Amino acid sequence: MTQLIHTTPNADRNTLYTELLPQIKHLIQGEPSLIANMANVASVLYHTLRFHWVGFYLVEENELVLGPFHGPVACTRIARGKGVCGHAWVENKTTNVPDVEAFPGHIACSALSRSELVVPVRKNNHVIAVLDIDSTRINDFHEHDVAFFEALSQLL
Ligand code: SME
Repeated sequence: MTQLIHTTPNADRNTLYTELLPQIKHLIQGEPSLIANMANVASVLYHTLRFHWVGFYLVEENELVLGPFHGPVACTRIARGKGVCGHAWVENKTTNVPDVEAFPGHIACSALSRSELVVPVRKNNHVIAVLDIDSTRINDFHEHDVAFFEALSQLL
C-alpha cells in the first residue's frame, strides 16, 4: 500500500489540521498494529506541521518508554509522574506548557524546545501512551492545536 498525504502548500496550521485528520484516519484504518500506526502518524505530523519533535512514549509498567517519533534523538525512559509527559500520563489529561522553562521538572531532551504539548492516548479509559509535540517557539500551542491532537489520539 502506498498512500500520499496531500496538504495545501503554505497553509496555516488550522487548514492543515482540517486536511490532515481524515487522511490520518484513512492511513491507519484497518491496521491493528499500534506501533505501525504511531510511526506513520509521527511521520505525517513531523513532515506536514514541521514541529521540532513529534512522537510517542508508551506506558510500560512504571515508566514511559520512547516509541515511534520524528525529530532529534530523545530521552528513552521517563519515570512515572516525571516531566511534562509523566505529568500528562499520571494526571490523565492534556498538558499544554507554553514555556518549558517555567514547568517544574521539565525534562529537556533538546535545548531547542521552548513549548510543549502532551496528549494522553487511551484504551478503555487507561492511558497507554502519550503523544508529545515540541516546538522551538514559546507559547506555540492553543485551543485549536489541543483539539486537533486530542481528536487524533482518539483515532489510535
Ligand atoms: N520534555 C519531555 C521529555 C520528552 S522530549 O521532549 C522528547 C518531558 O518533560 O516530559
